[in-house]
Amino acid sequence: MTPIYQTSTYVQASPGKHKGYEYSRTHNPTRTALQKNIAALENGQYGLCFASGMAATDTLLKLLKPGDEVISTNDLYGGTYRIFTKVYEGFGIKFHFVAMDEIKNIEAQINEHTKMIWIETPTNPLLNIVDIAAVCKLAKAKNILTVVDNTFATPYLQNPLDLGADIVAHSVTKYLAGHSDVVMGAIVVNKKELHDSLAFLQNACGAVPGPQDCFLVLRGIKTLHLRMKAHCENASKIASFLASHPKVDKVYYPGISTHKNHAIAKTQMKDFGGMLSFTLKGDDIAETMNVLERFKLFSLAESLGGVESLCGHPASMTHASIPKAEREKAGLKDSLIRLSVGVEEVEDLIEDLKQAIEGK
Ligand SMILES: Cc1ncc(COP(=O)(O)O)c(C=O)c1O
Repeated sequence: MTPIYQTSTYVQASPGKHKGYEYSRTHNPTRTALQKNIAALENGQYGLCFASGMAATDTLLKLLKPGDEVISTNDLYGGTYRIFTKVYEGFGIKFHFVAMDEIKNIEAQINEHTKMIWIETPTNPLLNIVDIAAVCKLAKAKNILTVVDNTFATPYLQNPLDLGADIVAHSVTKYLAGHSDVVMGAIVVNKKELHDSLAFLQNACGAVPGPQDCFLVLRGIKTLHLRMKAHCENASKIASFLASHPKVDKVYYPGISTHKNHAIAKTQMKDFGGMLSFTLKGDDIAETMNVLERFKLFSLAESLGGVESLCGHPASMTHASIPKAEREKAGLKDSLIRLSVGVEEVEDLIEDLKQAIEGK
């Protein structure tokens, strides 16, 4: 096993002559092992790990200059929306949010200032699918950097670099770590120049993870393929159960044949993941709260991607930082319940959903 190099500094042979490691903000052997591991999973050349997914996002945004513009999806993780609008807009960067499942919506926002297209697919929480290859083709022709937040799919299900993306970003906190015990982020790229700029920022700004956390993620990744298979199998059965339940209005899961971009999901993903959302008929907020309080196996909590099943209420939790009007424009209703389906026995999970929805 890779040891936990619990060290901040390294003995040098003579002044300025080190043995590969100088100081742990710059490099740490446990972190190096993890960075290589995540890069390999994404079929990339270079990996960089950060103290959180948001620290990885922050580092990517520091590639930009005032006056630059970014196009992103209107159904985006709330924290990403927050750093875009509440932090980087203040530094003179402009963000456009569009429904990215239609390429023409992206095309309409491109101008000479567009420097980055930020894709999230499947999206959080509505599980929309963006055609990665099509967006990257459009961006490449106009010299625009493409970032894909691959948190929901993981490299086991989807490899954006192979589809033409310049950068893959992860909240490692989720499926890569897999056990709800680490907060971490990662970036993977193929181009050396891009890696060098990002490695400079990683060291200059310093939001790096500690070696103990890197060790935990290395251990978690050993079972990524097993966990993802179980997550997908359980989520698919739960999606079918919910789709036929009389109290459920809509089910958002890319594995369902009626999903708007099921065909694209099928081409760019190996399977459809462990995340799904659904709304209740009547869209009543009080009834939604009752359902959430009745869950016994699904724990009501922020986050996703761990082996234990979680449920969440995006409108009041993960996406509360998005104004109600913006949320509703993107179709994020008050009765939307998001599930991170774990690896427990699926019959038990379905039983829990049934009693929570029916209230008996
Ligand atoms: C899709 C997505 N991207 C990024 C993040 C941010 O990652 P972190 O919480 O590790 O900072 C999250 C967190 O929920 C997420 O769901």
